[in-house]
Amino acid sequence: MVNTAIVTALAAGALLSTPVSGAIYLKSSPVLQLENAKAYDRLIAQSNYTSIVEFYAPWCGHCQNLKPAYEKAAKNLAGLAKVAAMNCDEEANKPFCGQMGVQGFPTLKIVRPGKKAGRPTVEDYQGPRSAKGIVDAVVDKIPNHVQRITDKNLDGFLEGDHPKAILFSDKGPISALLRSLAIDYLGTVSFAQIRNSQEKAVKQFNVENFPTLVLLPGDGKEPAVYDGAMKKEGMAKFLAQVAEPNPDPAPKPSKKDKKPQDKKEKPKESASSITLEDEAIPTEATDPETLEDVNKQKPVKVDSGPPMLEMLEHAPALEEKCMLHNSGSCLLALLPQKPLDNPDAVLDEQSRTALASLGEVQHKHTGRIFPFYAVPAINTAGIRLRGGVGLDKDEKRIEIVVINAKRNWYRHFPGDDFGTIAIEEWIDQIRMGEGKKERLPTGLIPDAPEEMTSPEEPVVEETIVEEETVIDVGNEGTHDEL
Ligand SMILES: *[C@@H]1O[C@H](CO)[C@@H](O)[C@H](O)[C@H]1NC(C)=O
Repeated sequence: MVNTAIVTALAAGALLSTPVSGAIYLKSSPVLQLENAKAYDRLIAQSNYTSIVEFYAPWCGHCQNLKPAYEKAAKNLAGLAKVAAMNCDEEANKPFCGQMGVQGFPTLKIVRPGKKAGRPTVEDYQGPRSAKGIVDAVVDKIPNHVQRITDKNLDGFLEGDHPKAILFSDKGPISALLRSLAIDYLGTVSFAQIRNSQEKAVKQFNVENFPTLVLLPGDGKEPAVYDGAMKKEGMAKFLAQVAEPNPDPAPKPSKKDKKPQDKKEKPKESASSITLEDEAIPTEATDPETLEDVNKQKPVKVDSGPPMLEMLEHAPALEEKCMLHNSGSCLLALLPQKPLDNPDAVLDEQSRTALASLGEVQHKHTGRIFPFYAVPAINTAGIRLRGGVGLDKDEKRIEIVVINAKRNWYRHFPGDDFGTIAIEEWIDQIRMGEGKKERLPTGLIPDAPEEMTSPEEPVVEETIVEEETVIDVGNEGTHDEL
């Protein structure tokens, strides 16, 4: 079975890029992996940083599809926000994932510090599953502890004897880099940003270039001007002369007075890569790269089976499983023809989405639903079926049908939305006997009853709905019972 699944995936143009049975993010990934609920608490819930957390399962096709975009988001957000993932398939994590309200995979949640430490605000991220979509949404939720000041309120900001830092800038929006430094020094150093147009302040501190970072150590000490590169590493060092940054994650409570920072758990922040010039968000945020684009560039590699559909390569296999006079219901994903000049081309995006959705629905209902198969365009029985039920003969796009040869009906999935929700709803309707069934054309199924039940009546009312046990209406005792 595993072999078939692999063959299927390869033939399907490969949906997956990494998986093993365990975590889908490798140790070297920029995504911070949360081993358990405790790690979530320490690294995410207690943090002064905003995080996005993906709750996933290794077998989930959409989670695999998300991976490249998610890792890219993690790289772009390094030092600004945490990008983390938790494997909800781990037995020990299931209760926690349930508590977090996770009902499907992947579930993405943005977690940002609340008023009380350890009591973060958690909300679902339901935007596009692209690096840009994720980065934009997370940046939007990064807490801002930087005041924007002008000549008018400069004096107010300068009051008090504690350390302060001012960034003089020719830009309006608060620098994301400054925002992240302000989080590191929350509670010890006050941060402000002021524009070059504020003449009084510019004069008072003799600032000639923009951006310039000025540190006011307090205690009557002279202001210091930073003259290094506008990168986080150098700036953090400069600020460290007045105060230690907050340890993040917070040190474990320990009896001994050890070094607070545990190397292993240091969040992955290549903070030094952020530069001030990148402004606001150090990302290729203008690059409208979508998840699918990223997938296309990825070399194909498949080594996981569970969510894939079994492929019915040739006509006899399809006929035997689904097109005999006593065959029960089968779901068939009729794959499109590949371009003649490029038989090795990967499947189009629509097909990949559809197959990932089907894989997920199939997995979710394992053993309780009629079988799902993928049928390549070269399968001649599939071609006959397409023609028979009036689908385009050119096999330009994927088509999903459920057929029941024994009862002589079929259903065709309408529309273009091949997302899991739409597909699952449609399949549920069929299982519940809702919706109109079409009659299979004469001659398609050898030895089929000339007409089915009663020719005058539409085949609609086949509803035998008993709770739980009824999985597939028109199917008697072949393969779909519990
Ligand atoms: C969060 O900020 C507070 C100051 O408001 C600081 O005392 C604490 O150490 C910070 N926590 C972490 C985990 O950095």
